[in-house]
Amino acid sequence: MELRTLGASNIAVSPIGLGSVKFGRDQQVKYPRGFTIPDDRTVSNLLALAWELGINVIDTAPAYGNSEARLGQLLPKNQPWVIVTKVGEAFDNGQSSFDFSAAATRASVERSLKRLQREQLDVVLVHSDGDDMQIIHHQGVLAELQRLKEVGLVRAYGISTKTVAGGCWVAQHCDVIMVSCNRDSDDDRQVIAAAHQNSCGILVKKGLQSGHADPSAGGAGIDAAFKFIFSQPGISSAIIGTINPEHLRQNVAAVTCAIAQTNSQQPHRQ
Ligand SMILES: NC(=O)c1ccc[n+]([C@@H]2O[C@H](COP(=O)([O-])OP(=O)(O)OC[C@H]3O[C@@H](n4cnc5c(N)ncnc54)[C@H](OP(=O)(O)O)[C@@H]3O)[C@@H](O)[C@H]2O)c1
Repeated sequence: MELRTLGASNIAVSPIGLGSVKFGRDQQVKYPRGFTIPDDRTVSNLLALAWELGINVIDTAPAYGNSEARLGQLLPKNQPWVIVTKVGEAFDNGQSSFDFSAAATRASVERSLKRLQREQLDVVLVHSDGDDMQIIHHQGVLAELQRLKEVGLVRAYGISTKTVAGGCWVAQHCDVIMVSCNRDSDDDRQVIAAAHQNSCGILVKKGLQSGHADPSAGGAGIDAAFKFIFSQPGISSAIIGTINPEHLRQNVAAVTCAIAQTNSQQPHRQ
C-alpha cells in the first residue's frame, strides 16, 4: 500500500491502520460481540501480519487498558511503526476519568514514552470527553502539547473530536484530527472537508461502526464502509480495530480496492 503524508507533517502512514482497543480492554466497549483479550503470541502474530500487509500505523491510548505497555513490549524495535497515542482520559476499574490540565498532559506523555519504550511519540491526540470546545478554550492540554512538540518529545498532535464545532477548530489549528467516518455520522463530512482544506492530517475512527457495518451485525458491509471512507478526499488513514487475522486481510484488500476505485473516478490531467 502506498503511504500517505499525515497532513503537513513529515509522517507517512498506510491508508489503513490498526486499532488496539481489544489488545487491552474488554469493559465498557460497544462491539456487537464479546471477545477475549488476545495473548502475547496472538498479538505478535497479528502485528507481524499487519506489517507484512503494508500497515505501518497503530493507534493506542492510556484508556485502552494495558494496550500501550503491550505494544511497547511486542512491537519489533527494527520496524519503524508510527504510533498514535492519546492524553486526557484514563480508564481504571471499569471507569473513565478525564484530566486535560497541562500537568496531567505532561505526566501522561512521560508515562506513554515509558510504556511504549520510545524516546519520542509520533502522534498524540487529546481523548475528548465530548466537550471539545471546553477542552480547546479552557484547558491547558493543547498549549502543553505544543510545548512538548517544541522540545522534541512529540512529533504531531491534535484531538480525537466528538463535535462538528470542535472538529472544524482542530482542522484549522492542529497537525492531526481523529474523526468518526461512517454512514451513521454524516455531520463529520464537513469536518473532514475542513481538515483536508487546511492540510490537517485525518485519521478515521469507527470506520466499521465499531463492527456494526458487518452484514452479520445488520450493517451494509465492509466493502461499502471503505468505499464511503475513501470517497472523501484527504483521509490519511482509517484506523480499524481487529484481533482477527482474516478480518485484517479482508480489510486491507477492501481498502486497496476502494482506493483504486476512487482513483479511477478522478478526472485525468491532460
Ligand atoms: N479516540 C477515540 O475516541 C476513539 C474512539 C473509538 C475508537 N478509536 C480508535 O479507533 C479504532 C477503531 O474503532 P473501533 O474499534 O471502535 O471500531 P471499528 O474499527 O469501526 O470496528 C472494530 C470492530 O469491527 C470488527 N471488524 C473489523 N474488521 C472486520 C471485518 N472485516 N468483518 C467483520 N468485522 C470486522 C472488529 O472485530 P474483530 O476483532 O472480530 O475483527 C471490531 O469488533 C479503535 O481500535 C481505536 O484505536 C478511538
